[in-house]
Amino acid sequence: DFGIGILGTGKYLPGRILTNSDLEKMVDTSDEWIVRRTGMKKRHLLDENTPSYVMGAEAARLAIQDAGLTPMDIDLIIVSTEVPDYLSPSMACLIQREINAERAAAIDVNAACTGFVYAMTVAQQFIQTGYYRHVLIVANEGLSRIVDWEDRSTCVLFGDAAGAVVMGRVDKRFGIRKSYLAAFGNLGHNLTIPCCYIPEEERQKRRAGKERVIWQDGGEVFTFAVKAMAESVRAVIDKANITIDEVDLIVPHQANLRIISSAAKRLEIDEGKLSVILHETGNISSASIPVALDMESKSGRLKEGDTVVLVAFGGGLTCGSILLTW
Ligand code: ACO
Repeated sequence: DFGIGILGTGKYLPGRILTNSDLEKMVDTSDEWIVRRTGMKKRHLLDENTPSYVMGAEAARLAIQDAGLTPMDIDLIIVSTEVPDYLSPSMACLIQREINAERAAAIDVNAACTGFVYAMTVAQQFIQTGYYRHVLIVANEGLSRIVDWEDRSTCVLFGDAAGAVVMGRVDKRFGIRKSYLAAFGNLGHNLTIPCCYIPEEERQKRRAGKERVIWQDGGEVFTFAVKAMAESVRAVIDKANITIDEVDLIVPHQANLRIISSAAKRLEIDEGKLSVILHETGNISSASIPVALDMESKSGRLKEGDTVVLVAFGGGLTCGSILLTW
């Protein structure tokens, strides 16, 4: 009889920093607009000559060390990414090689910004059945690679980062209690990043020569996001038969401070119970939850026994949540 939880966390934020005032020199925008509409102040960026998986490898090393394990203890690597360096080899294989986790199997999952919640739920199944003991999850998001730096409506939003956790067996009082995953493919056209096939309608939304950049209908995604976050939190709270007041910390995907605040209002939860890092990172897609977890646990805000909800929404469109005891 055991629980399934997080044994260690790690993160990597590249050293190059892009502030709102740097963006003012690149596009027609202002620090005031960005802060008021998004809450963001800066973001970290990879330099052009560095592959994105080096961020994930570094976050992975730190998470494995934090768990008191070595790379040879890892049975499976799951990478969540919507910006792989290659379609093949997978990011998971690149990271496996980089950290010498020679025993590990390796796969990528893509549920966009919800990817970390999906990956944790996949890992949970492998550990529950006894198939694997230690699963490394890396959320590796080099979003700067797919941003049109001349489009002010998107380029101010995104940053690069990786977050990692090691999952395994914990005492039965701790770990994942409930989870919820959902997909709304019928809404997928609201947030797209074309890759191997680019239909005419996708070309028309972008500048010539910029076919593979992120495009979104910000308003549609915003409306979906607030509803999806509130419903996803409710789903796991209801399944566990607890009240929102019993939750100590909510770690949401960080796309816009106004989305997080609106969802919190709908849930009637005190904003002081939210983990917010986007002023420092921008939107780092699926890396936002593991990076925030690493910051909150290392700062001591997240304590053993705390009731925590992880909640995300993103491209697909997708959403999901996990209720766990830390
Ligand atoms: N600086 C100044 N003005 C800007 C900027 C900018 N950077 N960007 C847009 N504007 C202008 C627009 O052109 C528009 O001008 P107009 O009224 O003259 O046409 C005005 O600001 C208002 O634009 P809106 O798009 O209505 O602004 P809004 O308040 O909705 O904010 C935003 C836009 C921040 C994109 C918001 O809609 C949002 O956060 N949406 C959700 C995004 C999201 O969560 N995406 C998930 C991505 S996750 C993933 O999968 C990677």
